[in-house]
Amino acid sequence: MTTLSLKQLPGNATTGSSVGAGSGCGGGGCGDGGGSGDAGTTIVGKPSTKDTGVGNYFVANYPPFGFWKPDHVGAFVDALDRPARPGVDMGIYAHIPFCRKRCHFCYFRVYTDKNARDIRSYIDALHAELADFARRPAISGRKPKFVYFGGGTPSYLSAEQLKVLFEGMKRIVPWDEAEEVTLECEPGTLNDQKLRALKDLGVTRLSMGIEHFDDYVLEVNGRAHRSKEIWRAYEYAREIGFDQVNIDLIAGMVEETDQRWRETVAKAIALKPDAVTIYQMEVPYNTTIYKRMQETGALVAPVADWETKRRWVSEAFDEFCRSGYRVAAATTVVREDSKPFLYRKGLFDGTDILSIGVSSFGHISGVNYQNQHDFQPYLDKVLGGEMATFRAYPLSRDEVYTRELALQFKSGLIDAGAFARKFGTDPRLAFGAVFDSWRRRGVLVESGDVLSVTRAGLMEIDRLIYEFFRPEHQTGRYA
Ligand SMILES: C[S@@+](CC[C@H](N)C(=O)[O-])C[C@H]1O[C@@H](n2cnc3c(N)ncnc32)[C@H](O)[C@@H]1O
Ligand code: SF4
Repeated sequence: MTTLSLKQLPGNATTGSSVGAGSGCGGGGCGDGGGSGDAGTTIVGKPSTKDTGVGNYFVANYPPFGFWKPDHVGAFVDALDRPARPGVDMGIYAHIPFCRKRCHFCYFRVYTDKNARDIRSYIDALHAELADFARRPAISGRKPKFVYFGGGTPSYLSAEQLKVLFEGMKRIVPWDEAEEVTLECEPGTLNDQKLRALKDLGVTRLSMGIEHFDDYVLEVNGRAHRSKEIWRAYEYAREIGFDQVNIDLIAGMVEETDQRWRETVAKAIALKPDAVTIYQMEVPYNTTIYKRMQETGALVAPVADWETKRRWVSEAFDEFCRSGYRVAAATTVVREDSKPFLYRKGLFDGTDILSIGVSSFGHISGVNYQNQHDFQPYLDKVLGGEMATFRAYPLSRDEVYTRELALQFKSGLIDAGAFARKFGTDPRLAFGAVFDSWRRRGVLVESGDVLSVTRAGLMEIDRLIYEFFRPEHQTGRYA
């Protein structure tokens, strides 16, 4: 393990959000990274912020996607042909890339033009892909601890399509031991019949993309749903009795104001969700917002600057904490009585994530991989009996260490002793220069073996954890 020296990342001093990045929801589902990214998105490690000169880009994985290469797919196949690492759990991520409408801020790989036949072919492809994985020594016989359906909008599927999808997958990899089955949904796609079907199919955790409660803000950001549909869908979900309901909000949507944000936070608290994920709005290249900026020659995105977005998230966290919630990660507050979110925990602690679907990304036996990112090539490969893996990255032991350390800090804290026991090196030695710098800047809090970051640090955690990255990974193309 080498000791990384702090690398100063250059920035520029705009007053708005810079264009770039891509937050990490994707493939890993929005709960902090995972799942599926759009390979057209570029993330560069030089985000801009007001004053600090450094930006705040959502880190979903390590190393950055730009370093994953088609040449490494062979290493992924080799890993699949070896037995699983002993004692490592497995989860499944399935990417469902369909939406009613493309939101102006969204950078995910989604399709709004697919018909029932296309969807049926896609479900067949997911089954074929899962069956191929299930035959490999690294996967064979293992039962997932959690299953996550991310998107896109998995709830766009009809109750009948969901049934075909779930039952086919369960026949291939029984998930009777899964403690958590999450499905992302857009409120306007839910009705009581679909929600009942989801409950009967074993979904334990609904993750609802609410984003905002103000109809004007929803409309100008291109959302398909309005507030009426939020209340109705949420009420049905509670009536039907899902174990956990998470909601997503975005701080800094186009036309956001202090007043509107405060109202949205108050309404979110009134719903009493089990968990709330709050993203800071990003404006990647492949969004409608950026395309409009190009048309008008604008250099600054029409959303609040990073400092304001961080303030909004922090103020929202304070409000939630006054109402019986606690901060569980840089983007998340959870109700005191809520269950742990296994999918996020798995992403952060190096659990094997078997990922299927177009452009989805996963991590098996220390190898990162991502699938073909276009619909028809994905279908052609999988239904033609081939693997859909497009690029991969086999991590060295040091990189596995860095990946887990960086991602776990997204929860706000790490146990240095646990890292020392797992990897044989204490992070305070391996990354002494980074922690010295964090101490000097007042963002590190130490209590025995527990290293945590202050609230201000947490609001910029994606920038801070770049400092653990190998120098060549700090500024490279991300996608
Ligand atoms: C796959 S969607 C969730 C499910 C469903 N598609 C929906 O939007 O309701 C993932 C989440 O990513 C977040 N997101 C999407 N684009 C974003 C952006 N440009 N900046 C920050 N968060 C974003 C939104 O909070 C959204 O709910
Ligand atoms: S509904 Fe969700 S996945 Fe679909 S375009 Fe909007 S944010 Fe993206």
